[in-house]
Amino acid sequence: MAVDEAVLMEFVGKAVGDLGSALTAGLVVVGDKLGLYKAMAHAGPMTSIELAAKTGTTERMVREWLNGQAASGYITYDAATQRYELPDEQAEALANDDSPACVLGGFQMIVSTLRAESKITDAFRSGAGVGWHEHDPGVFEGVERFFRPGYAANLVQSWIPSLDGVEDKLRAGARVADVGCGHGASTIVMAKAYPNSTFVGFDYHGPSIDEARKRAAEAGVTDNCTFEVAAAKDYPGHDYDLVAHFDCLHDMGDPRGASEHVLQSLAPDGTWMIVEPFANDDVTDNLNPVGRVYYSASTFICTPTSLAQEVGTALGAQAGEARLRDVITDAGFTRFRRATETPFNLVLEARP
Ligand SMILES: C[S@@+](CC[C@H](N)C(=O)[O-])C[C@H]1O[C@@H](n2cnc3c(N)ncnc32)[C@H](O)[C@@H]1O
Repeated sequence: MAVDEAVLMEFVGKAVGDLGSALTAGLVVVGDKLGLYKAMAHAGPMTSIELAAKTGTTERMVREWLNGQAASGYITYDAATQRYELPDEQAEALANDDSPACVLGGFQMIVSTLRAESKITDAFRSGAGVGWHEHDPGVFEGVERFFRPGYAANLVQSWIPSLDGVEDKLRAGARVADVGCGHGASTIVMAKAYPNSTFVGFDYHGPSIDEARKRAAEAGVTDNCTFEVAAAKDYPGHDYDLVAHFDCLHDMGDPRGASEHVLQSLAPDGTWMIVEPFANDDVTDNLNPVGRVYYSASTFICTPTSLAQEVGTALGAQAGEARLRDVITDAGFTRFRRATETPFNLVLEARP
């Protein structure tokens, strides 16, 4: 064995950075829950005493958190005044839930996901998968918070207009099904934007549907937006003008069966919008920071979710357009194209 010491030390340095990242994830969740970021946002430099007083927290704990955050580059520290500051750009990502740059939901999702570590380790041995519903509820809320700002920024502005003729139908009044809707973030964004259309969100996970109903009531869209518990292969209704799957087709045990069900539920000139995590077709081309997050989250969530269901295709969160095209066209769709994309999403259009 000939270990190159320089290469080894370089790797250890990287791993130490990752140790810091892993702990920072927990500290972001703490800062979010206690309102520390919101208290610092646009408030200028402050001491740990001031931040603790403003948030009703313990100064000694806050000071340690601040130093960890400063070492992570999340906040700045001025030794001369012993004051800490959250720069405006970081405030956008850490204190503004409505910003497309908000990362709070991502951290909540990741920290909550890690609670399933022992179940996931067992699933490597058993092959039995781990159901979506077996995760900590923080995963469901974290996913909603992580995706909602992206839906608010893109869905009405660019994703729907990228589909052939769909925007006009939605403005005039169309029937829409949002399958695997989770807490209904995408359903509610669409229902608000197109009041002449009716939207129904389906998910097999009952507690998520309960939350979606609460969100719809809070958003004042219950007139044209409802939610029902139903799985992807047996949701009710037919002649939908638009069916949408947001970040969930790859989670399903039988994505081909789900595609066949979409086909029989669509109107003859209807459209299926499939939003999936951005991925290239070859693994090598996904070995980058976005692919790192997606492959890792997929090991914890998406792949075992699919393995826990019937068929267990387990496309994974980095399926890529070519594999998705195969599944969807094998199910009988005759037209398929990439309608648009963002650095995080592929937006695919399939038509009968
Ligand atoms: C990553 S979450 C996405 C939720 C939501 N579409 C969003 O974008 O916020 C995946 C969702 O797919 C749902 N799901 C997984 N398998 C399903 C199935 N076979 N039928 C219906 N929903 C399913 C899960 O319950 C979960 O809510």
